[in-house]
Amino acid sequence: MRPFIYQTHPQRVVFRAGGLASLGDEAAALGARKLLVLCTAPQRDLAERAAAVLGARCAGIFDGAVMHVPVEQARLARACAAELGADGVVAIGGGSTIGLGKAIALESDLPILAVPTTYAGSEMTPIYGLTDGGLKRTGRDARVLPRTVLYDPDLTLGLPVPVSVTSGINAIAHAAEGLYGADRTPVSDWMCREGIAALGRALPVIATLPGEPDSAAVRTARGDALYGAWLCGAVLGSVSVGLHHKLCHTLGGSYNLPHAEVHTIVLPHALAYNAPAAPEAMAAIAAALGRAGASGPQAVFDLAASLGAPVALRELGMREQDLDRACELALQAQYPNPRPLAAAGIRALLDDAFHGRRPG
Ligand SMILES: NC(=O)c1ccc[n+]([C@@H]2O[C@H](COP(=O)([O-])OP(=O)(O)OC[C@H]3O[C@@H](n4cnc5c(N)ncnc54)[C@H](O)[C@@H]3O)[C@@H](O)[C@H]2O)c1
Repeated sequence: MRPFIYQTHPQRVVFRAGGLASLGDEAAALGARKLLVLCTAPQRDLAERAAAVLGARCAGIFDGAVMHVPVEQARLARACAAELGADGVVAIGGGSTIGLGKAIALESDLPILAVPTTYAGSEMTPIYGLTDGGLKRTGRDARVLPRTVLYDPDLTLGLPVPVSVTSGINAIAHAAEGLYGADRTPVSDWMCREGIAALGRALPVIATLPGEPDSAAVRTARGDALYGAWLCGAVLGSVSVGLHHKLCHTLGGSYNLPHAEVHTIVLPHALAYNAPAAPEAMAAIAAALGRAGASGPQAVFDLAASLGAPVALRELGMREQDLDRACELALQAQYPNPRPLAAAGIRALLDDAFHGRRPG
């Protein structure tokens, strides 16, 4: 057995269809009496439902969450929380909204009650990100880890199919890299396999029954997908990830490309790069996705392609002439990765991702 260190984060996780109804009880259990509800503008209606459940415990709604947490939005949200005398925040939405909650908690210590409605997994990590003048910086701080996470699959029934697919593959990326993280444990390995398998089962059902969001099959799949997202997010929160996440961070931040789509496109190619140095992880990914006969990178590529997700960076509007610079940026910082970073290999990886070639 490899030596390992297993450290858990103090978090309460509630998983229940219809669980939004218990938001007030969860706030009370946290000891919070005036919570600011955070959301994106398109999810304002959902935030109002949350506010109604909170009743007198609701301090107000701030609906200015946007992708990558610009510092200006963080300042506005912090000021709003202070002005209303909030003693906690409810972040209801995807990674952008939860990221805004983290930006508040980072400076105020206010506890976060997260109600995730995508599969990005931010609710399970002590990682925060803030964007200033086009540059995104990330960090880790225990204060930003949501204290309570309320998973209610009913809130994901309306998540559009394309977003569900790319967000689900974003979650798979956390676990896929978790399988070769230097600080993984037997527990995290199990979470990776279980999380990938749950998403691999759920996404095809969600994608093939777009007109039946309320059917029993889709409800079961939505529950499975959120369960997988929880496990994969928990892996991201506790195991160091490598090349794939760094590349996506660089591409998203430097070329303003959408987060979940970039993860979906880059993952098979980053895995193919690392495959020679992490054969057991690749076999585990292919097995979890039930794709006997395919390699781990091929299994991920085939899943994305079969569900209609974008598979080429050029589809996102990236320009071919930016690939050299993207490669330079990716090589600037050294970070733990099973295979050493080499310019020619990373450039070839980016070329494959740009054109959307199936890994060999
Ligand atoms: N810190 C971390 O650990 C971590 C982990 C993963 C992602 N992130 C960050 O999260 C952000 C991306 O999050 P995301 O992919 O969840 O996207 P998002 O939060 O930006 O959501 C995308 C869009 O979908 C809408 N939406 C969300 N849930 C919905 C639902 N159930 N029904 C209908 N519409 C819904 C949102 O309002 C938004 O308009 C990025 O900034 C990324 O860096 C951080």
